[in-house]
Amino acid sequence: MYRRMFYLMTMLAGCLYASAQTVYHEPYRLQVHYSPRAHWMNDPNGLIYFKGNYHLFYQYYPGSTVWGPMHWGHAISPDLVHWKELPIALYPDSAGLIFSGSAVADPSNTSGFGKDGKTPLVAIYTQQDTVGEKAGRLDFQNQSIAYSLDDARSWTKYRGNPVIKSPGLKDFRDPKVFWHPEQKKWILVLAAGDRVMIYSSKNLKSWDKESEFGATSGAHGGVWECPDLFPLEVDGKKIWLLIVSINPGGVQGGSGIQYFTGDFDGHQFTSMDTTTRWADYGPDHYAGVTFSNTGKEKIFLGWMSNWQYGKLVPTEKWRSAMTFPRKLGLKKIGQNYYTTQMPVDAIEKLVIRKVYNKHISSVKNYALSGPIRMEFEVSDLHAFSFIFSNAAGENIKTGYDEEKNSFFIDRTQGGVSDFYPGFATIHYGPRIAQSKNSKVTLLLDNASLELFADEGLTTITEIFFPGQPFNSLQQGANIKPVTDIRISQLKSIW
Ligand code: FRU
Repeated sequence: MYRRMFYLMTMLAGCLYASAQTVYHEPYRLQVHYSPRAHWMNDPNGLIYFKGNYHLFYQYYPGSTVWGPMHWGHAISPDLVHWKELPIALYPDSAGLIFSGSAVADPSNTSGFGKDGKTPLVAIYTQQDTVGEKAGRLDFQNQSIAYSLDDARSWTKYRGNPVIKSPGLKDFRDPKVFWHPEQKKWILVLAAGDRVMIYSSKNLKSWDKESEFGATSGAHGGVWECPDLFPLEVDGKKIWLLIVSINPGGVQGGSGIQYFTGDFDGHQFTSMDTTTRWADYGPDHYAGVTFSNTGKEKIFLGWMSNWQYGKLVPTEKWRSAMTFPRKLGLKKIGQNYYTTQMPVDAIEKLVIRKVYNKHISSVKNYALSGPIRMEFEVSDLHAFSFIFSNAAGENIKTGYDEEKNSFFIDRTQGGVSDFYPGFATIHYGPRIAQSKNSKVTLLLDNASLELFADEGLTTITEIFFPGQPFNSLQQGANIKPVTDIRISQLKSIW
């Protein structure tokens, strides 16, 4: 009752606010990325494609614009670009807050939650028992499940929760589940401090521990969070990809996403090596995981912020957005496999106007309006840079630094930055490709820039807060200009 009242009141408040200022068009509101109408959001959760809709659940606190008691917010999209926010899917209960997790479809009804032939959707998430935590216990993170028989609109929590009890580790969370067809069982991977733990189950309710991975691999400057594990086909070979977020200790400080490539035999993940590899070289891509139930195609989505300053950024009514959804792949360069990420094809739906322009020089400004995608190919890769600026003299610079063999985004002049020391800086992402030519795609929104170089081998994701949107583009002076640029103006998703 209370919850419903609370929900109605927040909706009412939202509507009143809407009449005062147009929702989704406030300062800094991204126009081609998902963000909640209001209040705090972090990790994407329960990503699943089901019956024609992509479901995006997320860490959500409806009581404030900073992190608080976690719920699962919910939005759906038919195409991964246009999103509609739905009522909150999961509320905290006596077992605790609802932390990150995943969702699967259970068409064979292994869980027994199905009824009248309806495929149950099962959500698997961490419950943070704040009472236990305050009492100084170590076993306050446990894994619970809930199911839905009405296409994710309503959820019933399982009576037997939690389904995986903490072994007494204070960091024991973020379960990601998938069906392993060869072993005919569900596999669950979760983050346990400095490693991941792998469990298996026949019915999603009773779980056995299979193995661990990572204590001596990859980066360890912080706690591991939000893992994901799945196979990808590369040149006819099946390679398993393990993605793990880490905070702090990310490549640019604070939050970051690392990954390992290797093999998974249904029990144990074996990495090809122990090297640290980063999925994104920007500071603002965290907790990224893939949608389930999308077949061989893997779609990757992350929280476009950083725990260093996520709760300090200067948006007033809401905080944070998701990255643009990306097709995730692997490519072999030399002896190693590297992730590739490119905006999903549905971005084409947003293209209003395509402009080919071969003469954007350092002298002549090019007028921009609204979000854009920019694509170009630099034959014989050499230093280049683009500057997006506004009348207030703020700008974001991006390009390629030949000496460092790195792409970069420079947000030193990008607008408001005093909310966090060190926010205004340049971030470099090393070039991984070895080809002479380099294809680059840039996705510029009102307050974010995503760089996808060499068809997604190097990506850099950044947010910034200019006083007014960037409406002018020019190339850096004194360097050989890029000559064949394709700019697509994008329409707002709202
Ligand atoms: C990652 C994370 C998860 C946790 C959630 C809590 O950003 O810390 O490990 O489940 O956020 O909101």
